Amino acid sequence: MIDFAITCVRFAVFVRFMLKSTMIKTSILETGRLILRPLTLEDAPAVQKYFNDWEIIKNLSKVVPWPYPDDGAEDFIKNNALPRMREKGHLIWAITLKENPGEAIGIIDFGHERSLSHGDRGFWIARPFQGRGLMSEAIAAVNDYLFFEVGLEKFTVLNAKSNITSRRVKEKTGAVFIGLTELEHHSGETEAELWDITRENWEKIKNGRDE
Ligand SMILES: CC(C)(COP(=O)(O)OP(=O)(O)OC[C@H]1O[C@@H](n2cnc3c(N)ncnc32)[C@H](O)[C@@H]1OP(=O)(O)O)[C@@H](O)C(=O)NCCC(=O)NCCS
Repeated sequence: MIDFAITCVRFAVFVRFMLKSTMIKTSILETGRLILRPLTLEDAPAVQKYFNDWEIIKNLSKVVPWPYPDDGAEDFIKNNALPRMREKGHLIWAITLKENPGEAIGIIDFGHERSLSHGDRGFWIARPFQGRGLMSEAIAAVNDYLFFEVGLEKFTVLNAKSNITSRRVKEKTGAVFIGLTELEHHSGETEAELWDITRENWEKIKNGRDE
């Protein structure tokens, strides 16, 4: 009898896992000002134009090439982003403004792998669009998707210790500080802050806003 019960529980866990796995895709997400849609190769020129910027890349780990090659965006999308989306189920959104959905102005890249060199999520937004609350708005939609549709409980993210803006976006969107870890950034910063983004904390923040 106990064996039968254990088998049933295992089967239920397996079915839940399979349902979640099939649900994980880069769904189109809409916010007040933005449309987040799957990154495509057509986004390469916009990504090349906006990402080839020291003010963005200095905050990133040395995994990103600098100086940024002339075909850096095309190479990244064709040989890294699209294969990860296809083969590993990574979620990679082009951030676009509703009034111009054809132009990618940033990227949110999510792969649930708990790698300390990347964290599970990376993001950037082009300089002309920074400081308007757009990344916080985009991340809120991605959190809603990951926690309430995909069903994740938590994931891990990083930022250079000196990257106050990225830290602020995290604090506003459910991050719980874990500690510091070593990670070399282009800026020369060698320490990164490590955070868990938890469903529990995101719910608290959302409920606080609604009150
Ligand atoms: C980090 C980044 C994505 C933020 O995007 P954004 O759209 O400008 O962010 P938002 O406008 O939603 O939020 C920024 C927050 O940081 C705050 N902030 C910005 N500069 C700050 C500073 N020097 N001190 C304190 N707070 C600061 C803003 O006031 C805002 O918080 P608030 O809404 O409470 O006022 C963007 O700056 C970027 O792409 N940077 C380069 C790449 C990068 O660092 N990526 C993250 C790697 S971990």
